[in-house]
Amino acid sequence: MLLAKRVMLRAIERQDLDALNSWWNDPALSALLGTRRHLSAPDETEAWYDAILARVEPHEGRTYAVCATVDGRLLGTAWYGSFDAQDRNVEVGLYLGQEEDRGRGLGTETMGLLLSYLFEDLGVHKVRLLVRSDHDRAVRCYERLGFQHEGMLRHHRFFAGTHHDFMAMGMLASEHVTRGLDGTQEDTGRNR
Ligand SMILES: CC(C)(COP(=O)(O)OP(=O)(O)OC[C@H]1O[C@@H](n2cnc3c(N)ncnc32)[C@H](O)[C@@H]1OP(=O)(O)O)[C@@H](O)C(=O)NCCC(=O)NCCS
Repeated sequence: MLLAKRVMLRAIERQDLDALNSWWNDPALSALLGTRRHLSAPDETEAWYDAILARVEPHEGRTYAVCATVDGRLLGTAWYGSFDAQDRNVEVGLYLGQEEDRGRGLGTETMGLLLSYLFEDLGVHKVRLLVRSDHDRAVRCYERLGFQHEGMLRHHRFFAGTHHDFMAMGMLASEHVTRGLDGTQEDTGRNR
């Protein structure tokens, strides 16, 4: 389990699957994520869960349940994957399932927690992600944590009747700064 002030990341449990299934079938959330994946049937969610359980080594990637520290309520998921052992380069992603939980700093805190784990514990060299270029809140969240803009992928994905541009963003271990929850910043001082 990874623990911050307001959020914690824990393993996905079977009891989470109903909520995850309903979020995956939310077209508004899919549009923000830029996914076409709709897991409409509970058995597809079960199959996804079985695949998650089959991943035992950290380099195989992880998907975490994001929960509120105060009461354990499930807020969403955060994940890393596509770990290349030679490049030490991973892709990350995150969502909070409900609009009322967004815009309160929880996403920034969650990604900050995941970054600390990846850089400080797993020793990755680079973390990367793709985000819809017009998704201002997500871009701002990643910028605030120190992600750099690495390039625009024009008309990268087609959904909701049109092509969408995506921004490639990335952060190197040498750029990683741990942002304290009280506003202080601590440079990890690592230069991998
Ligand atoms: C994207 C997401 C993870 C961001 O997490 P969040 O908790 O909502 O965002 P935060 O409250 O941490 O805010 C991040 C920054 O965006 C700003 N922001 C908040 N709402 C905003 C909005 N509607 N438009 C623009 N900026 C906004 C905040 O002010 C903050 O910037 P600041 O620190 O300079 O003030 C979350 O909104 C989410 O899960 N959305 C749905 C799924 C999704 O889009 N996932 C990401 C796909 S790449």
